[in-house]
Amino acid sequence: MAIRNVVIYPDEILRKPNADVTVFDDDLKQLCADMLDTMYKNEGIGLAAPQIGVNRKIVVIDIPDDNDEQGKNQLILINPKITKREGELVESQEGCLSVPGYQDTVMRYPKVSVTYQDLEGKEQQLNDVEGLLAICLQHETDHLDGVVFVDKLSRLKRDRLHKKYSRILKELQHAE
Ligand code: NI
Repeated sequence: MAIRNVVIYPDEILRKPNADVTVFDDDLKQLCADMLDTMYKNEGIGLAAPQIGVNRKIVVIDIPDDNDEQGKNQLILINPKITKREGELVESQEGCLSVPGYQDTVMRYPKVSVTYQDLEGKEQQLNDVEGLLAICLQHETDHLDGVVFVDKLSRLKRDRLHKKYSRILKELQHAE
């Protein structure tokens, strides 16, 4: 088990193209285990590989249960692809481990379907997913397209974020 450093916005690594995974071996399993460890350590519910500096199409997700506990809904998605987006856009209050200390509202589809491969390379699908998992799937697959949730904010809000965020980053550096 290894906890990796999280890449912090606006690092260019978050913008680079992410390669398809073609080899399903022990290294891939180890990488996914590290991603889960890193996600739990940082109290996240989702993490994409570029967020730990690995530009490959891998996402891990664990939506907390009704008791706000994680571990029961663990998902590892290799080469995930959203195949269907449905419904009227809804407001979603989001944060991101790569944008520490900042939350804002973006618009998301309420229902999605996704195809992906599991750790053995077997094709899997999740159909008509709703709720937090639907939001999370959109947020994390965006990362694989080089998109961070703050990119979806209006210019005014983004300018405000950048002002506030430079202060947050300084505070974080001091805290280390
Ligand atoms: Ni994120």
